[in-house]
Amino acid sequence: MSHTVLVTGGAGYIGSHACLELLRAGRDVVVIDNLSNASRVSLDRVRELAGCELVFHEADIRDRGALDGIFAAQRIDAVIHFAGLKAVGESVEQPLAYYDNNVAGTVTLLSAMRAAGVRDLVFSSSCTVYGDPAQVPVREDFPRSATNPYGRSKLIIEDMLFDLAASPLEEPWRVVLLRYFNPVGADASGRIGEDPAGIPNNLMPFVMQVAVGRRERVRVFGDDYPTPDGTGVRDYIHVTDLAVGHLAALDALAKTRGCVAVNLGTGRGYSVLDMIAAARRATGHPIPHEIVARRPGDIAATYADPAFAAEYLDWRAARDLDVMVRDHWRWQSANPTGYADASSDSRTVPR
Ligand code: NAD
Ligand code: UD1
Repeated sequence: MSHTVLVTGGAGYIGSHACLELLRAGRDVVVIDNLSNASRVSLDRVRELAGCELVFHEADIRDRGALDGIFAAQRIDAVIHFAGLKAVGESVEQPLAYYDNNVAGTVTLLSAMRAAGVRDLVFSSSCTVYGDPAQVPVREDFPRSATNPYGRSKLIIEDMLFDLAASPLEEPWRVVLLRYFNPVGADASGRIGEDPAGIPNNLMPFVMQVAVGRRERVRVFGDDYPTPDGTGVRDYIHVTDLAVGHLAALDALAKTRGCVAVNLGTGRGYSVLDMIAAARRATGHPIPHEIVARRPGDIAATYADPAFAAEYLDWRAARDLDVMVRDHWRWQSANPTGYADASSDSRTVPR
């Protein structure tokens, strides 16, 4: 069992929930985050919810000196690597930023890990690596492809990790690649949650901002897909289930030889209209919507085959759609502007 876990990107949406579950499970947590897409308040609230401390370094994973300092300061047993940029549209406009942050950042992190003798890693991959799958549900052995620089950065990192784990000259690496489907929801406390900058790209945060009155209506991107109601179908998964999946992945590192990819999804697909209906039930608000043109690059339907996660990680998603939406709403209604109006007690470890 890994006791002290270095969490890159731990102040972000998924990372903050993972830190909370790690602390609740009795692990020690060290976070590195450059706060490019996060607030330090999220970590204050993780501490408050867990009732214990975590160590926070405000630093960039591309800063080798900072990484070496962190590995030298305490024993790290394993790394969970969330840090990265994730906006598909932005990645098309600024590909170099994505290759630098995601790919070069990961090379720097892996080099620092190797120098420190740490070779246990859980990596945040995405169902985006399946491109437009020929068949659903999606299994881990399906072909991979990318249609944008964000997706390609995940493919490159996956390949890099497969190569590293296969190298005959390397000490053995143990790597679990977690391919997330669509994370939604928030910790049941409503104290931490997703806080997107600007206009949300993803469906659930947008729907919630309509419910809370920050935006007028949801634009449904197409109702002529070959799906039951014509709108896009996705595998939405509660972020706490996802976070718990990381604990299971850490435990599975002990038996892992090389690099293993695992889907984290529920195995169920819901349409855009299903999500809007669920949000109406959970919030009591009407959630107006209009059908507009398809979003370029979108696919009709994807959802996970979760069988391998059940077998390899002994993990299954436990929270259903109504819980996902209810918890997301609790966070959004209690924090209508996210972390923007909260102040932090700023406990960064000086470098
Ligand atoms: P997020 O933006 O909320 O979290 C990422 C965190 O990494 C942020 O706190 C950001 O400040 C930090 N970060 C970015 N670049 C950094 C750098 N160079 N050095 C240090 N910190 C840096 O995103 P999230 O939704 O929590 O996603 C976490 C990971 O999961 C990402 O790798 C993302 O690609 C992957 N993922 C997310 C989704 C999703 O829908 N949210 C789906 C699949 C995969
Ligand atoms: C997005 C990312 C993908 C990432 C995934 C996981 C894009 C193009 N893709 O995909 O790389 O892996 O999130 O989180 O950003 N929708 C609307 N109106 C909206 C927003 C979305 O109708 O305002 C629809 C979409 O067409 C889709 C569904 O809602 O059918 C979900 O969209 P979104 O939340 O953006 O997720 P993905 O499209 O799966």
